[in-house]
Amino acid sequence: MRGIISLVIAAIACTLLTGSMVAGAIESSDFDDPTVCKGCHAEIYNQWDGSMHSIAYTDPVYLAEEKIASADTDGLTDTYCARCHTPIGVLAGEVPPIGHENLSEVSKKGIQCDFCHSVNKSTGIGNGAFMVSPDGIKRGPYDDSKSPYHGSMFSDLHTKSEFCGMCHEVYHPVTGIPIEETYTEWKEGPYNTGDPETTTHCQDCHMTPGITHFEANPGKASSIGPDRDHVYTHYFVGGNAVVTGVIGSEVHQRMAEERLKSAATLELEIEKKDNEAGITVKVTNIGAGHKLPTGLTEAREAWIEILAKDAAGKKIFHTGGLDSEGEVDHDAVMYHAVLADASGKPTIKVWEAESLLSDNRILPKETRVEKYNFAIPEDVMGPITVEAKLNYRSASQKLLDSIFGKGVVVAPVIEMASAEGTIEVGKEPGEGVPGFEVLFALISLLVVAYLVRRRKK
Ligand code: HEC
Ligand code: HEC
Ligand code: HEC
Ligand code: HEC
Ligand code: HEC
Repeated sequence: MRGIISLVIAAIACTLLTGSMVAGAIESSDFDDPTVCKGCHAEIYNQWDGSMHSIAYTDPVYLAEEKIASADTDGLTDTYCARCHTPIGVLAGEVPPIGHENLSEVSKKGIQCDFCHSVNKSTGIGNGAFMVSPDGIKRGPYDDSKSPYHGSMFSDLHTKSEFCGMCHEVYHPVTGIPIEETYTEWKEGPYNTGDPETTTHCQDCHMTPGITHFEANPGKASSIGPDRDHVYTHYFVGGNAVVTGVIGSEVHQRMAEERLKSAATLELEIEKKDNEAGITVKVTNIGAGHKLPTGLTEAREAWIEILAKDAAGKKIFHTGGLDSEGEVDHDAVMYHAVLADASGKPTIKVWEAESLLSDNRILPKETRVEKYNFAIPEDVMGPITVEAKLNYRSASQKLLDSIFGKGVVVAPVIEMASAEGTIEVGKEPGEGVPGFEVLFALISLLVVAYLVRRRKK
């Protein structure tokens, strides 16, 4: 079986490779470095610089995974993986080998200006279905744009989710197992109404200040161009607050946190019956145009944490905490997709994926209800406070330790949404108030002291 799979991968890898050789007319020198575009599009350049797109082929997490995939498959995944992470590198035949050995400076810059704006055609959705024409004409959203440096052309493709869907949809080239399905999740969800007037495309949430909806961003697309009612931003922010932190891109890291905090709400309901507490948590995906989480969800972690403490701070119930190794407790409710290898075991090595074991991620606008119960101990000091959170991190600590070394990079846990409540326990209010007893005791003492002093006189 493994042999057959390897053969098929080989065939596909060859097709991809010859594909890039047919387009072999393409060289990386056909593309301008982003710093050239910066000359007249400084604002857009500064937004893009430090984005996950700008580091798609220097991202240490990607490079580590690419290396393992290549070693595991005798190099069969090399062009397959790199096609989306350094499209110019693959089109220009600089990959294979993987890594930076053969790579021109322009190819190192991942998904960049001149690549995206030279795309002239899409052959479909997923697995890098783009075609480019490095003819010096920049394709974009305007039909009246004039530049002294380059030709300009309106491109309908650039204004639609289908543009992003060329890469934000990853299928295993042999088994066909979906590894990332962001485009399909969006297409089948409520943000794609089918009506161009009301459809919310990827660009509306990821290329405007709105985060969860379109919000106009008036200004200039070029320092030497006219004023525009709207200019699309180029931060391309998602949920990655780990790698943006590693590369020191504070703006993108902060924006990723802000985006995650806009994506969901959490409601908490508490019931008490005798000595049993019942907790209901409702999590709603209010802001993501796709499942929550999306993308490389084999690695992403989104989970519920519940912590109940008595008035003295003693833990009564805890789920979704981190253990001493930084791993999320195994009983926690976690929203993710789990892939299995040939033997049916869960794997995050996506190239080994032969089946999808489970997928419990939250659909756009869906509300998920989770229930918990715990016993209230007899001697507890009330009231009990209950804190519920929806947490997110881009990767498990184990994965980061394996890439960076133990404890070198700690994944920040981002609190996407939270709620708090209390459970009254023990004696009726008033009766149990310690203040009264203390006061009573104090007054009695004073009275006794007074009497004693009087007797001594
Ligand atoms: C010498 C200045 C200059 C340089 C350098 C430059 N541009 Fe432009 N570009 C402009 C101007 C001016 C416009 C028109 C802006 C407008 O219409 O609002 C423009 C428009 C665009 C558009 C919009 C096209 C459309 O029809 O929607 C894109 C896309 C674009 N540039 C990409 C690039 C890229 C990519 C680079 C680098 C390879 C680059 N530009 C370099 C000046 C420049
Ligand atoms: C991932 C692909 C991608 C990358 C990388 C990218 N752009 Fe864009 N850009 C787009 C898309 C898509 C639009 C149009 C969005 C729409 O109309 O919905 C756009 C719009 C533009 C426009 C028109 C004005 C505006 O912002 O609406 C200019 C100019 C532009 N880009 C320049 C650049 C420059 C310069 C860089 C590099 C610093 C760059 N782009 C990097 C995809 C990209
Ligand atoms: C050429 C392929 C390609 C195209 C086209 C593309 N992307 Fe990406 N995008 C990627 C890759 C690869 C990454 C991940 C880079 C990494 O993590 O190392 C990425 C990352 C992102 C992220 C950051 C994810 C995170 O975890 O923070 C966002 C958001 C994003 N893309 C949005 C878009 C949108 C919106 C469009 C369409 C306008 C688009 N992309 C078009 C390949 C592409
Ligand atoms: C209604 C607004 C909206 C639309 C439409 C939308 N997104 Fe998102 N996207 C978000 C929000 C909010 C988040 C942060 C929560 C999360 O990670 O899911 C996000 C996260 C992401 C991430 C990071 C996932 C992760 O956790 O690593 C990627 C990649 C992404 N979006 C790509 C896309 C693409 C591609 C499209 C179009 C097919 C799209 N988005 C459409 C709002 C939107
Ligand atoms: C069809 C395009 C495509 C192909 C092919 C592809 N990727 Fe990606 N990759 C993406 C996109 C888009 C993202 C961003 C999704 C997200 O942020 O969750 C991504 C994200 C990643 C990340 C996450 C990086 C981080 O910083 O968290 C890793 C690791 C990765 N890819 C490895 C690989 C490997 C290894 C292969 C080959 C087996 C591969 N990719 C093939 C498009 C692709």
